[in-house]
Amino acid sequence: QASADYNWVVKESTYTRLCSTKSILTVNGKFPGPVLRAYAGDIVYVNVHNRGRYNITIHWHGVKQPRNPWSDGPEYITQCGIQPGGSFRQKIIFSVEEGTLWWHAHSDWSRATVHGAIIVYPKPGTSYPFPKPYAEVPIILGEWWKSDVMEVLDEFVRTGGTPNVSDAYTINGQPGDLYPCSKSETFKLSVDQNKTHLLRIVNAAMNSILFFSVANHNLTVVAADAAYTAPISTPYITISPGQTIDALLFTDQQPGRYYMAARAYQGNLAIGFDNTTTTSIVEYKDGNGNGKTAPFPYLPYYNNTNAAFGFFNRLKSLAINQTDVVKTTTTRMVSTVSVNTFPCLGNQTCEGPNGTRLAASMNNISFVDPRVDILQAYYYYINGVYKEGFPDFPPLIFNFTAEDFPLILEIPERDTKVKVLEYGSDVEIVFQNTNLVAGIDHPMHLHGHSFHIVGTGFGNFDVKKDPLSFNLVDPPLRNTVTVPLSGWAAVRFKARNPGVWYLHCHLERHLTWGMDTVFIVKNGKHPNETLPPPPPDMPPC
Ligand code: C2O
Ligand code: CU
Repeated sequence: QASADYNWVVKESTYTRLCSTKSILTVNGKFPGPVLRAYAGDIVYVNVHNRGRYNITIHWHGVKQPRNPWSDGPEYITQCGIQPGGSFRQKIIFSVEEGTLWWHAHSDWSRATVHGAIIVYPKPGTSYPFPKPYAEVPIILGEWWKSDVMEVLDEFVRTGGTPNVSDAYTINGQPGDLYPCSKSETFKLSVDQNKTHLLRIVNAAMNSILFFSVANHNLTVVAADAAYTAPISTPYITISPGQTIDALLFTDQQPGRYYMAARAYQGNLAIGFDNTTTTSIVEYKDGNGNGKTAPFPYLPYYNNTNAAFGFFNRLKSLAINQTDVVKTTTTRMVSTVSVNTFPCLGNQTCEGPNGTRLAASMNNISFVDPRVDILQAYYYYINGVYKEGFPDFPPLIFNFTAEDFPLILEIPERDTKVKVLEYGSDVEIVFQNTNLVAGIDHPMHLHGHSFHIVGTGFGNFDVKKDPLSFNLVDPPLRNTVTVPLSGWAAVRFKARNPGVWYLHCHLERHLTWGMDTVFIVKNGKHPNETLPPPPPDMPPC
């Protein structure tokens, strides 16, 4: 077991994109941020120094952190923010995950620019379950606003409507040559012919599921969310915010230049999104195409739900990731995931439908952030911070995918309710999407665990029938599941990681609206018998 210590300084840096210059929050001045590399089984320490203007936290997305929720990072869930001038030494315990993950800020909307790839190599002495690639490259998909992201967030919260859409999507920080004055900076991947290149793809966008593809080349997907998959060859991938895909690109085409591009998949929500395409170039070293125009790849249309889920549903686990599939559940939950509205308050502009402000919920509870983090409140028995009793089922069972709803579901409760899971539970959660205010897919992410996606479908989940067709043999193991619009997704996992673990939609606007809750995995004893004490430099609340 190796260990390493890094120093990361969170600070403002000046960047120019789309012909305009602004100051953005970065780690060590880099955008996208530094790549964190480790081997499975390593322990890595990152000393995070906050030299920005606001509180910040950093999360290691998809790293399970066994019995180590203290360093997980989500603000008000496992820690309070690191204050300007403050520092926090975070311990990252790599265990079973192998492949690509990522890290990002987990406070307000700072993750728009504070993010980077995590690469976990196989344990020394072991190897990939595919031929060793000739070269490896992180591909980080993101979103760029010309205005200050804190102002975008402030305005979004103030108006109660939808957030200002970003001005561009990006590949490795660059919008690409379809946007004004970005051409010379377009990201270029220089490749050798007839070699295998491993693309380590991260969707770090704030509010968009994306399609991604390379012209004239298929991709061979070999891992998703740092768990190996059975290899599949595909002309495009669908990737939701929070998700990662490892894909092999075999350079078997004529030497030349080929576009690699991404654009949004947005269900049936035609308005309020960025429908532009971000581009980069795959350039063969031995021949740049002699001035020929690079071909453009196939990307499904923004509302092509069949294409989006056609990709997701092809993913299957490789044998090593099938061993833990829960066959018999001890805890079953159904949770609606909904966009809702709240009545207008006097001091807001309320730009939601019919003069409301928009909200979101799980099982009709819109999560309210506590003042003190839930982990600390749990560990030290601080009363009044959160309540137990997040419901196992939605308040009404009826036609969720209809367009007409009783008002009781239009206006959710506001509360800080968590779900307690006994250590050792074998859990099933079915996420049921509703068409309450908006029909949109939700990428639901769980901290501290990966889950097997045992089924997804359209319409209302049928408690009796649908489980009969669950895949309990080789379901994909992921940390983020995309719940289809007007549909459902079922996941299963073993609750074997004591601690406090966040569960939320990874579309940032939905998280801000309250589409989140918390699992406390507990084994019946005092928390200090199952968790180590907090690190001495835990940021104060
Ligand atoms: Cu990508 Cu709560 O995290
Ligand atoms: Cu959502």
